[in-house]
Amino acid sequence: MHPSMKSSGQRAIVSALGETPLDAVEHHLSLEPMSPPDVTKLASHDVVVAVKSAAVGWVDLLMTSGQYQHLPSPPYTPGLEYAGELAWLGADVKHLAVGDAVLVDGFVAGPRSKGEYQASGGFATWAVVPAEAIKRIPGGLSFDQAASLLGSYETAIHCLVARGRLKAGETVLILGASGATGVAAVQVAKLLGATVIATGRSDEKLAVVKSLGADHVLNTSSGAFKDQVKALTGGQGVDVVYDGVGGDLSLEAMKCVRFGARFLIVGWASTPFVAKGKGQRGAPNANQLPTNLIMMKGLDVLGCPTVISAHHDPTLRAPRHELLWKWVESGKLKPHVSHVFPLAEVKEAMRAKWRGDVVGGCVLHP
Ligand SMILES: NC(=O)c1ccc[n+]([C@@H]2O[C@H](COP(=O)([O-])OP(=O)(O)OC[C@H]3O[C@@H](n4cnc5c(N)ncnc54)[C@H](OP(=O)(O)O)[C@@H]3O)[C@@H](O)[C@H]2O)c1
Repeated sequence: MHPSMKSSGQRAIVSALGETPLDAVEHHLSLEPMSPPDVTKLASHDVVVAVKSAAVGWVDLLMTSGQYQHLPSPPYTPGLEYAGELAWLGADVKHLAVGDAVLVDGFVAGPRSKGEYQASGGFATWAVVPAEAIKRIPGGLSFDQAASLLGSYETAIHCLVARGRLKAGETVLILGASGATGVAAVQVAKLLGATVIATGRSDEKLAVVKSLGADHVLNTSSGAFKDQVKALTGGQGVDVVYDGVGGDLSLEAMKCVRFGARFLIVGWASTPFVAKGKGQRGAPNANQLPTNLIMMKGLDVLGCPTVISAHHDPTLRAPRHELLWKWVESGKLKPHVSHVFPLAEVKEAMRAKWRGDVVGGCVLHP
């Protein structure tokens, strides 16, 4: 048994869904003492993870108000993605050992999963997961880097490789490049041999994005950037757009493409409230399509939901992981983490992520 199982711990609890993520953080999120999991009640394929680092993701925030497509059932502990040491193993788990450094696949356990493990997320001293959710940490990554790996980098690979078919020598415009998925996309696009034009609204954050490999950075605070992109591409426009921002930025980006470009819909960080709060369904603010631009540019507009696509076609995941593991094991890829908070500051960590203070990953230490 891991030494941590002899002490007491703490966990974050969302007791009810908020009207918005900030409402949930202020009024329905709290910390409570936690005892070590009662292993006599666990299944023989379960393991206990002593969490060392948990990512604070955009989806963690949207879930607290039920404005993400997958609804959690309060009370629950947030934290889709995390890394730590194995603290206890069920009798049937033979291929792992107590003390192993591991990361947890948020598709299989925690708030993004379905079924009995949904309430046990990573914003806690311990989490209970089925052994199939466990992966050994590759390439000597730190716990913070490991906790920031799958959600962002598997997304970037799904979008740029499986959907975008991005090739060496092509140019990709990455919107919101300082965000978690944006930074991952910059790093993945460079590994694929593409030229990267990265956008953002803060020169300070864009300097970090440039240091992570972007060839060109554009501050889009003024709104218009078509002429700059055209100048950087010899008047042609880009081959691929990676859009995690949405809204007016999408419309401007649709003017920055060559004929027949691929336009990847990754997310809509600028217009998060497409669904009503408190888990009510309906899309009162659904985004509108500029069909004239799509038609005249001969655009391939590709929706890129990383989790949902794998539910429809489970064979999609193995090649994504193979590529990711290859890059990490060879030292070519390391997730970037800019903000670290103790679990006691979970509310401030979630506010910082929502405000966009973060470049790449933001993590909590229980
Ligand atoms: N397709 C998938 O499977 C998948 C997976 C994960 C996440 N997502 C989605 O991807 C989106 C981004 O997630 P993330 O974790 O990367 O979020 P994030 O870390 O908060 O990054 C979002 C970025 O968007 C930019 N941004 C936000 N509001 C903006 C506005 N009004 N105008 C212009 N830029 C704005 C910000 O850049 P600056 O502040 O530097 O301008 C920020 O860095 C979310 O919608 C999320 O749900 C999709």
